[in-house]
Amino acid sequence: MIYHTLLKLLTNKNDGSIHRFAQRLTVLFCQLSRLNPIKRSQPTSPVNVMGLQFSNPVGLAAGFDRTGTFLPYSECIGFGFVEIGTINIDATQVLDNTIITTLQNLNKATKYKQKTKHPQQWGISLGSLRNTLDEQTVADYSKGMGLFWLFADYLVINLSRPESDARALKPDLYGLDLFLTNIRHHHKKLNTEYDLSIPLLAKLAIDYRQNESTAEIIQLLKQRGFDGVILAFENWPNIQQIADYLHNLKAQHTDFPFIVVGGIRSTQDSEQLLAAGASLVQIYTALEQQGPVKTRKVIANLVYKE
Ligand SMILES: Cc1cc2nc3c(=O)[nH]c(=O)nc-3n(C[C@H](O)[C@H](O)[C@H](O)COP(=O)(O)O)c2cc1C
Repeated sequence: MIYHTLLKLLTNKNDGSIHRFAQRLTVLFCQLSRLNPIKRSQPTSPVNVMGLQFSNPVGLAAGFDRTGTFLPYSECIGFGFVEIGTINIDATQVLDNTIITTLQNLNKATKYKQKTKHPQQWGISLGSLRNTLDEQTVADYSKGMGLFWLFADYLVINLSRPESDARALKPDLYGLDLFLTNIRHHHKKLNTEYDLSIPLLAKLAIDYRQNESTAEIIQLLKQRGFDGVILAFENWPNIQQIADYLHNLKAQHTDFPFIVVGGIRSTQDSEQLLAAGASLVQIYTALEQQGPVKTRKVIANLVYKE
C-alpha cells in the first residue's frame, strides 16, 4: 500500500524512474532488515536443476541488475538465483566501462558469496547488439563467455531481443542451427580450457501471437547440447494460457529444463507454472510494481507452503 502510493507519487512510467525507485527501495529494505535483531532466515526449498543446487526455485530475471550492483540485496529478498545482465559484448571493441564495472562487482560479491550458507546461483546473461546470427555475433557471445566464465553458475545466450533475427516471424532455422553449433563449439572449448563445466542456456521470447517455431528451436538447442532454455512469455493474456502452452511444450521435451518468466505476480502464479513444467521461475515486473516486502512474501509463501 505504502509502496504503491510512493510509486505513484515519485515515478513516471516512461523515464525509467520506476526501475531506479524499485532498486533504491530494495537496497533500503535490505539495509533495514540487517538492523533487525530478529534475523529472518532465507526461504529455502532446495531444487536441483542442471546439476546446480538452488535454495528455492524463484529467481530475479535479467534486466533488473545489469551490472551485479544489487547482488547482496536481491539475495535478502529471498531470490534463489539472479540473472545478471544482459551484458552486451562487441568482440571488435575494447571492454567498455559497463563490462569492467560488472566484472568488478562480481569479483567483490564472489568473496561474500563464498562465505554464504545457501548461496544464490548466478546466471550471466550475454548479449550482442548485432541482430544477425553470423560469425561476428558468435564472436561477441564467445568473448562474453570467456570474460564471465569464472563468475557464472550458468550462462545465457540472450536471443530474446526484439530486433534479433532469432525472433523473426519465420526464423531461418538452418542459420540458427549453425549459430548454436558455433556457440556450443566455443562453450566446449572453454569447458576444457578451464576444466570447469558451466551450464549453457538460451533465452527465447515466446510471443502470444507468434510462437510457431518455439518447439523446433528447443529441439535445436537440445541437439546442440545446450543445458536448458529460458522461456520469456510476452503479451500473454493470463497465466492460465501460459501454463497450458507450457504443459504441452514440456510434454514434448520432458528431459530439458525450462526456466519460465513472464507475468508472474503472485505465489499462485509461480506454483501454476512450476506445476505446468517449469523447473525454475523468474520475476521482474512484480518486484518493480509490488516492491521488495511483497515480493519477499511471494517467495516465502511458495517455499514454506510445502
Ligand atoms: C525494463 C526492462 C528491462 C529488461 N531488460 C532485460 C535484459 O536486459 N535482458 C533480458 O534477457 N530480459 C530483459 N527484460 C525482460 C525480463 O527479464 C522478463 O523476461 C520480462 O520482463 C517478463 O517478466 P515479468 O513479467 O516478470 O516482468 C527486461 C524487462 C524490462 C521490463
